[in-house]
Amino acid sequence: MTQAGSNGVRTVVVPAAGMGTRFLPATKTVPKELLPVVDTPGIELIAEEAAQAGAQRLAVITAPRKQEIMEYFRNFPELEHTLEERGRTEQLNKVRHAAELIRPVAIEQDEPLGLGHAVGLAEGALEDDEEFFGVMLPDDLVLPVGVMERMAEVRAQYGGSVLCAFEVPEDEVSNYGVFDVEEPEEGCPADVRRVRGMVEKPEAEEAPSTFVATGRYLLDRAIFDALRRITPGKGGELQLTDAIELLITEGHPVHIVIHEGKRHDLGNPGGYIPACVDFGLSHPTYGPHLRRTLHRILAEHEVEDSQD
Ligand code: G1P
Repeated sequence: MTQAGSNGVRTVVVPAAGMGTRFLPATKTVPKELLPVVDTPGIELIAEEAAQAGAQRLAVITAPRKQEIMEYFRNFPELEHTLEERGRTEQLNKVRHAAELIRPVAIEQDEPLGLGHAVGLAEGALEDDEEFFGVMLPDDLVLPVGVMERMAEVRAQYGGSVLCAFEVPEDEVSNYGVFDVEEPEEGCPADVRRVRGMVEKPEAEEAPSTFVATGRYLLDRAIFDALRRITPGKGGELQLTDAIELLITEGHPVHIVIHEGKRHDLGNPGGYIPACVDFGLSHPTYGPHLRRTLHRILAEHEVEDSQD
């Protein structure tokens, strides 16, 4: 359900200023967010998800050397004209889609000071009466799409801030922001928990739970004030997790929506490749052939491995 209006999110902030070092050498010239999942860049998948959640504005935090991300959302008159002349309607619609989805706004982050710093820069992009906003990390694909709408429902009920959580195996928690959650309250929906603390990338043995933050946040405007008051945390960076933890200690309601779906990490080749395979298998044109090819490749590898 699309929620424009009072319950709906109007602005989604997309931190996209990272150097993409795990994708070098490709990211020497192509921003990580423009790498295609089958044929569509991750940033367009995010824009689509944001638009579906009702957002009209995509506040993209970019770095000076990553102008191509904003370029991607403009019109391409010559290309469009050529495709139109040749009657390539399907391609023409694909070219136009990003520009039609949502209004992008660029915000430059000159220095890589952390996710908390990046989100803090978006304050000026919000209208004065916007009480909350979304954050979508473009490294995380959360499927099926729609968790933001669920999070908006939860915020409408409980107020404050609402984050998306996944449950992960214990040995993976130290890659994430981890939630300390209360026992489910009576009458509380099964997928919702109140958060009583949050810690960024703890050691497995110190982690308060196996519920982790996965790239979708619905944040109350109060976060900006908290972001101004935190000091550098994990990795010497200003952490969004620390600002959320600060709000919790001050009594601000924070809840998680436990998402029962799948997710892909587009932030490194090890997660990007399975995402391409997953989307490829579902693709009407490429799916059937890819399925057969994957079986063949696996069989070849099994033979090679048995000869080692
Ligand atoms: C960021 C956040 C972390 C969150 C993760 C989700 O970490 O700091 O709390 O769990 O995204 O992908 P990053 O993966 O950017 O190091």
